[in-house]
Amino acid sequence: MYGLQGKVAVVTGSGRHSGIGASIALRLAAEGCRVVITDIGRPLGQEFAAAHIGATDEMESIAAACRQAGTEAIAVPCDVRREAECEALIAAAVKAFGRIDILVNNAGVGYLMEAFTEFRESSWDAVLDVNLKGAFLCSKHAAIRMQEQGGGSIVNIASQAAKSGFPFAAAYTASKHGLVGLTRSNAVELGRHGIRVNAVCPNHITTGLGDWQNKFFSEKLGLDYDTYLKGIVDRNPLGRTGLTNDIAKAVAFLCSDEASYITGEALNVSGGEEYH
Ligand SMILES: NC(=O)c1ccc[n+]([C@@H]2O[C@H](COP(=O)([O-])OP(=O)(O)OC[C@H]3O[C@@H](n4cnc5c(N)ncnc54)[C@H](O)[C@@H]3O)[C@@H](O)[C@H]2O)c1
Repeated sequence: MYGLQGKVAVVTGSGRHSGIGASIALRLAAEGCRVVITDIGRPLGQEFAAAHIGATDEMESIAAACRQAGTEAIAVPCDVRREAECEALIAAAVKAFGRIDILVNNAGVGYLMEAFTEFRESSWDAVLDVNLKGAFLCSKHAAIRMQEQGGGSIVNIASQAAKSGFPFAAAYTASKHGLVGLTRSNAVELGRHGIRVNAVCPNHITTGLGDWQNKFFSEKLGLDYDTYLKGIVDRNPLGRTGLTNDIAKAVAFLCSDEASYITGEALNVSGGEEYH
């Protein structure tokens, strides 16, 4: 346990049961944090189809699971591309729990992958708007409150694609590299207010998004699903793919006083697959 009892945490994109965000929220709840589950809540056309988004009832059910851990939790829909919604999200956290100590920018779109020469402007915008602009907007409004309170911790869920390039993923890779840039800039600027800002860079995890990526890349490579996945496992020094809980543990550590002298880092949680 990391001494996070009573802290107030907002985790974006935490409204899908198999997702990294839900795992982070449940871990923070188990640590005694009061948690705000937030996600887009409703399908919004081709770029945000129902198959990829955390719906309102799923968010409510994850908030209920957090409460079962013995803490308080609420669900607040928020499209992180919209500043007014991000501002309202932070206000809702403060209204419910009086403060905000932890923001985890986890909302992400990783399923809009296309050959670079065919990449649609609408796909580029959707990916950059959620993965990078969304983190900017939520961080901005959280930081306003955290400054007033005298401190806080922000963790951005980046990716191995924040350190290395991946085919068909120009927008995703650019957004995640940008997210590390945002992390470093915010860490330098907000440190004097007691706000630490770090990123976590997972490798492959078979969430709903991860499953979609496995299908996409195995088809592109002409491999069956299991052979493709075995290739990932064989390349990994620790011999397995990531688990959502691997990321949740790293986030809990980074938010805790055990990490009180750590800011501006982009921590690989990849079983040794990524090391720079
Ligand atoms: N799964 C992996 O292998 C992997 C690896 C590296 C990084 N990541 C990153 O981890 C994060 C979580 O991914 P995941 O694998 O759990 O996928 P996921 O699809 O389960 O989670 C992404 C969440 O973001 C939400 N979201 C999308 N658009 C949104 C918007 N406009 N506003 C608010 N929420 C929005 C979705 O509804 C969804 O709940 C993402 O940022 C992803 O890029 C995942």
